[in-house]
Amino acid sequence: MAELQSTFVRPEFQRRGLGTDLLRMAVDWLRTQGARSMMVGFHSDNEYRGFYLKYGGVLGASSRCEWHDLVELHKQLHADATSGALKRPVNFGG
Ligand SMILES: CC(C)(COP(=O)(O)OP(=O)(O)OC[C@H]1O[C@@H](n2cnc3c(N)ncnc32)[C@H](O)[C@@H]1OP(=O)(O)O)[C@@H](O)C(=O)NCCC(=O)NCCS
Repeated sequence: MAELQSTFVRPEFQRRGLGTDLLRMAVDWLRTQGARSMMVGFHSDNEYRGFYLKYGGVLGASSRCEWHDLVELHKQLHADATSGALKRPVNFGG
């Protein structure tokens, strides 16, 4: 089982689809490595766990989310990519 250490998007850029893009890139790469399942650990009261639950993560023991079928997650992330992400424009300044 592959382990995703963490995913971070700066607060001012959250809820625009960037986290989804990062997750998609990670899963794309894991698929090339032959991974079939994945987990990510987080603190039990992490307010952001809704992000992983949205993408079908199953809450497992010890405050972790697990995916037992990366093919399904891969399909879902690519379906979302064709249906509107990046959802909201990002102005990086400058
Ligand atoms: C988790 C994180 C990476 C998500 O990044 P993001 O760019 O905001 O995510 P997206 O815009 O792609 O969100 C996709 C969907 O996930 C869900 N989601 C995202 N953040 C959520 C939150 N805080 N609570 C509940 N659901 C959430 C929503 O369904 C969202 O779709 P919507 O905006 O249309 O409702 C980001 O919030 C973050 O960096 N958090 C701080 C670090 C952290 O705690 N990471 C998790 C532990 S490793």
